[in-house]
Amino acid sequence: MTIPTINVATFPVDLCTGARDACCFFAGAFLGRNDAAYLHTAGITDVACVDTDEAKLIEMHEIYPPTWKWLARDAYEVARETRDSRRKADVVTVDPWTGDIGRALWALPLWLAVTERVLIIGTCLDWFDSMKLPATLDGANEWITRQHWSGAPTPPPATRLVKYSEYRGGLWWLVFELA
Ligand SMILES: C[S@@+](CC[C@H](N)C(=O)[O-])C[C@H]1O[C@@H](n2cnc3c(N)ncnc32)[C@H](O)[C@@H]1O
Repeated sequence: MTIPTINVATFPVDLCTGARDACCFFAGAFLGRNDAAYLHTAGITDVACVDTDEAKLIEMHEIYPPTWKWLARDAYEVARETRDSRRKADVVTVDPWTGDIGRALWALPLWLAVTERVLIIGTCLDWFDSMKLPATLDGANEWITRQHWSGAPTPPPATRLVKYSEYRGGLWWLVFELA
């Protein structure tokens, strides 16, 4: 087993270089093909990978740097604890299964609360379609502005939408640059 091969056109690696640390939520399944492999390429040595699939994290532990940390836990729970203890990571990635993208996007204030510099969160054509929005950066930002974010500040506009797969009509990273 080795770290998956990457295609830098499909991930905002440029925004990750020089980062002090990262938190990779929903890190398992494909050994980091979507996200962890890019955090590694960006040279981040302090990365916490969170996934409920412990067996997959054990496999990843074998191939990623020994300085990386592995948490076989619920991503929302870990994010809430991180937020409540006022900790943040420079880079945060969020990559749930496509069927769970709606839930993860509703939790946008939570992921932003634990992000210092860059939040990279997955989205997909099914989600844009269900929101009756075009699969564009403007479409995503329209969704952000039309929501009522009760109890949380309105998220800032996303700055990039990066397509990384043609699966089911398209998977994209929605990127927020906070600093
Ligand atoms: C799309 S896959 C992630 C792929 C991974 N980022 C990669 O590049 O290999 C989604 C992952 O979410 C995990 N998962 C599902 N629900 C979860 C939860 N509540 N907390 C943490 N991980 C969860 C699954 O075990 C699965 O590994």
